[in-house]
Amino acid sequence: MKTYPVLRIIEHSPTVKSFYFERMTDALPGQFVNVWLPGLDEKPFSVSALGDDWLEISVKAYGPFSSAMMELKPGDRVGIRGPFGHGFSLQNDALLVGGGIGIAPLHLLAQALSAQGLRFVSLLGATNKSELIFATDFERRSERCFFTTDDGSMGKKGLVTDDVLQIISDHRIRFVYAAGPEIMFVKLKELLDPLGIDYEFTLERYMKCGIGICGQCVLDGSGARVCVEGPVFNRQALKEVTDLGLPHRDASGRRK
Ligand SMILES: Cc1cc2nc3c(=O)[nH]c(=O)nc-3n(C[C@H](O)[C@H](O)[C@H](O)COP(=O)(O)OP(=O)(O)OC[C@H]3O[C@@H](n4cnc5c(N)ncnc54)[C@H](O)[C@@H]3O)c2cc1C
Ligand code: FES
Repeated sequence: MKTYPVLRIIEHSPTVKSFYFERMTDALPGQFVNVWLPGLDEKPFSVSALGDDWLEISVKAYGPFSSAMMELKPGDRVGIRGPFGHGFSLQNDALLVGGGIGIAPLHLLAQALSAQGLRFVSLLGATNKSELIFATDFERRSERCFFTTDDGSMGKKGLVTDDVLQIISDHRIRFVYAAGPEIMFVKLKELLDPLGIDYEFTLERYMKCGIGICGQCVLDGSGARVCVEGPVFNRQALKEVTDLGLPHRDASGRRK
């Protein structure tokens, strides 16, 4: 494990920040790195953007680890290893559906799609305007960009899934990517399966080793390891998963 200093921090809101490091690795959209805070823990985070000489991750404060990340200052060192897992495939005529901090992996995907000249529309939702991270960049890169917020502070008030079918039909969408809360995936599957539209969702599970050894992140039904076969899964692979949207296993392996 090598450690790297935080080069720069962007505060999107008091509980959501992006951290820049030197570009110690390449990463495909959807891949993640494991971040180690000495004395605390190690947790996976999607790469949210890459520049010529920098790598960015974006973090939302939930519990002990992510809250400790919020306390980092430029110059503080953290361990980073990776990238791990399988990323998104790059498809044309796509819709990117991001909920909350799920917008982070879609940001690197939007970078990659636009670099390839592929056409896509974005639909991003969050609790409020300040958590709609990278909004301007998505607007710039997407053919169209739609926003929803729980409180109506930006875009339409409501859920990100409310207008999915309308957008698919208005914008000739043939592929859907999604990242965000798992309840959003359950709803999207209900909407997309009858249409026969292919999709890729990026899943999260509690991880320990991050390299396929411990079995902690295995999905019920398919037995796939999120850290190796995922975190991005396609429609075919998701068909076999039986714990989508259900409470996940904690560090002890028990469901909450
Ligand atoms: C492949 C992968 C990629 C990830 N990428 C990112 C990323 O880009 N940015 C990021 O902020 N986090 C990301 N995570 C989640 C991250 O690894 C941590 O799990 C998260 O920061 C919470 O850790 P914690 O110790 O602070 O809180 P915990 O003690 O683990 O969690 C506190 C509470 O918050 C809930 N919680 C944790 N994460 C979420 C969530 N995402 N949505 C809703 N509730 C949640 C837990 O169920 C628990 O109830 C990713 C996870 C995986 C597996
Ligand atoms: S975290 Fe150990 S197998 Fe995935």
